[in-house]
Amino acid sequence: MNHQNEIMLKKETTDKNGLNTMSEHDSTKNGLGEKWPEPTVRVQSLAESNLATVPDRYIKPPSERPDQTIIINHQPKTAAINIPVVDLNSLFSGNEDEKERISEACREFGFFQVINHGVTPELMEAAREAWRSFFNLPVEAKEVYSNSPSTYEGYGSRLGVEKGAILDWNDYYFLHYLPLVLKDLNKWPSLPSSIREVMDEYGEELVKLGERLARVLSSNLGLKEEQLQEAFGGEDVGACMRVNYYPKCPRPELALGLSPHSDPGGLTILLPDDKVVGLQVRYDDTWITVNSLPHAFIVNLGDQIQILSNSIYKSSEHRVIVNSQKERVSLAFFYNPKSDIPIQPLQQLVTSTNPPLYPPMSFDEYRLFIRTQGPRGKAYVESHISPLVN
Ligand code: OGA
Ligand code: NI
Repeated sequence: MNHQNEIMLKKETTDKNGLNTMSEHDSTKNGLGEKWPEPTVRVQSLAESNLATVPDRYIKPPSERPDQTIIINHQPKTAAINIPVVDLNSLFSGNEDEKERISEACREFGFFQVINHGVTPELMEAAREAWRSFFNLPVEAKEVYSNSPSTYEGYGSRLGVEKGAILDWNDYYFLHYLPLVLKDLNKWPSLPSSIREVMDEYGEELVKLGERLARVLSSNLGLKEEQLQEAFGGEDVGACMRVNYYPKCPRPELALGLSPHSDPGGLTILLPDDKVVGLQVRYDDTWITVNSLPHAFIVNLGDQIQILSNSIYKSSEHRVIVNSQKERVSLAFFYNPKSDIPIQPLQQLVTSTNPPLYPPMSFDEYRLFIRTQGPRGKAYVESHISPLVN
């Protein structure tokens, strides 16, 4: 059977929201295959060919286009709504205000920025600059690491395998840190020469930060500090990274750098570009442009946290806008549950009046939604609700 047929087979089941659901059979072998449905086009190459407009396959339908007034370093009207800032140093010294701030941010937004987080500005800078250099290499040097939908590891230019999909204006690099069996330095770039060493250190530091954040969230949910980490698989958590490269876009009002989505995993720790804004978070019906503080990380909660917390905490819906003046580089580090254990609402957060909202599903299986169908707002977590509670 060819790969195309395997994917078609999987689409036989469609749930109430029109999303394709995976059968038991598919969860063991993801069926995504080694080939993308169309030849890969690097967005960076398009950007460098000085086109006057963007090709049709990057043009969003009018209702999904970004608001034109906010394209270049402008804040939307609601700029007064700030992304909460949490001082981790102060929080770990027992400051209750900080604890409350993070708690509220998790309930309301699924989104906050952290300062005094323990990762040095030098390491953050070195990581970002190493990736900037990587993306500035000649195209042949990057194509060696070209990725496929079966694992997504390597250099990629699309999320989702649906033929004819409207694509986002970005190229990316995806790699694994944990579990160690998936950490394969041969799949990491070898240039620039510092990149593997810098990223190794960066990964170690970010895993530590993920562990600390998991403790705070756990305690704020009224659980033992270790409980969330335990639900993630204890020592066996997963950690991976997506480095996003958003080239300059000749028609930023028609395209998106990354379409609306929530992250499928646990916690995302984002190192934004220090010079170029682009990330927007949805708050009710408004897209708020994130202006991060110097040396801050932007943290957002993924769908697995929404599921484990039985929706007490919400995953955030976010997207990225592009501009015609400057390219943008961001590093999204994902701190995830062990990928093959069932994830479901924690027993302590379930009561007779708050029944479990989500059935158990492993993260391996869950992330096939976005890997197959691409970014679709919060559709996956919303359609994952148990039939019993409807
Ligand atoms: C992501 C993401 C935001 C950004 O990679 O999932 O949302 O600012 N990135 O690049
Ligand atoms: Ni994201």
